[in-house]
Amino acid sequence: MNGSLNLRAGANGARILGFGDYRPRRIVTNEEISRRVDTDDEWIRTRVGISERRFAGADESIVDMSVAAAGKALANSGVLAEDIDTVIVATCTAPAPIPGLAPEVAHRLSIGTPGAYDLNAACAGFCYGLSAAADAIRSGSSRYALVIGAERLTDWTDQDDRGTCIIFGDGAGAAVVAASDTPGIGPVVWGSDGEKSRAISVADRFSYMEMDGRSVYRWATTRLADSARRACELAGVDIGDIDAFVPHQANLRIVDSMVKTLKFKDDIAVARDIVTSGNTSSASIPLALTAMIERGEVKTGDTALLLGFGAGLTYAGQVIICP
Ligand code: UT7
Repeated sequence: MNGSLNLRAGANGARILGFGDYRPRRIVTNEEISRRVDTDDEWIRTRVGISERRFAGADESIVDMSVAAAGKALANSGVLAEDIDTVIVATCTAPAPIPGLAPEVAHRLSIGTPGAYDLNAACAGFCYGLSAAADAIRSGSSRYALVIGAERLTDWTDQDDRGTCIIFGDGAGAAVVAASDTPGIGPVVWGSDGEKSRAISVADRFSYMEMDGRSVYRWATTRLADSARRACELAGVDIGDIDAFVPHQANLRIVDSMVKTLKFKDDIAVARDIVTSGNTSSASIPLALTAMIERGEVKTGDTALLLGFGAGLTYAGQVIICP
């Protein structure tokens, strides 16, 4: 053995062929929440920008929602389930650590025996998953991948804690990623700041989420703009030419602050799905983008800058070309 192994030939790049989403049936208004905790519609809308969110019911598990969102993404992409060889489920709210959810999701979609794993990068999870899928395709480990962001944050939220219960909701979004000669997923710019690992955390399996909202807010509005600019630079797209900005939906004021800082073109489409979905962590970006595509705000061939950020603290951003 001469100490060198063969590698597979990969594709030139990867591209998203379709998005899909699943929104739980139950709508929870600010008015409903203010009947339980000391808050009000005005405070929530002004400080966070949320009017309502969705809470998943007993028959809307993370696997159920993932299957629904991924099924829709497959239908929109025209790719057959049997052609998928990689399934990544990004989630930070799995009900248990074993087993991972991705194999069951794949089985329920009749995908066969793909590589299947869960990924936890909290609210940045979808962008981490997209990058992992694109890299697997470029290195030849995959041809067609499903990337899903799915969460039941309500399972880990104290509905009596007004600091968190007003924010979080449930849902799932998915993308079908395929090998392509014309790359449509730009290089990821990702990172973490583990010094702030306690800023958003769940202490143990018997506890609810705790969040130092102010410090995360400050970090998100001051530290992430350079990474967003760098993602555009690496993709070879002038930030002034980006057609859509789809950041993680954590707080409408964070979205608006980023839009102001990044100096996009005036008519850029901006994701504001938080207004009706709340903060759905790793699901928020594909949920928002699916809705923007369905409303015609984002068209085929448009460039979109994605930017996920959250617990860890973690962040990841990349430019994509929309299907
Ligand atoms: O997705 C993961 C990433 N997460 C984030 O990015 C979250 C980022 N942070 C935020 O979005 C905001 O910090 C929150 C929405 C969580 C909180 O908004 P804030 O403007 O930072 O409020 P605050 O925590 O500074 O609290 C201000 C005041 C406090 O009262 P005092 O101490 O000034 O008298 C709170 O007790 O508002 C009070 N307060 C509320 N009042 C009415 C906190 N929550 C509520 C509430 N209703 N729900």
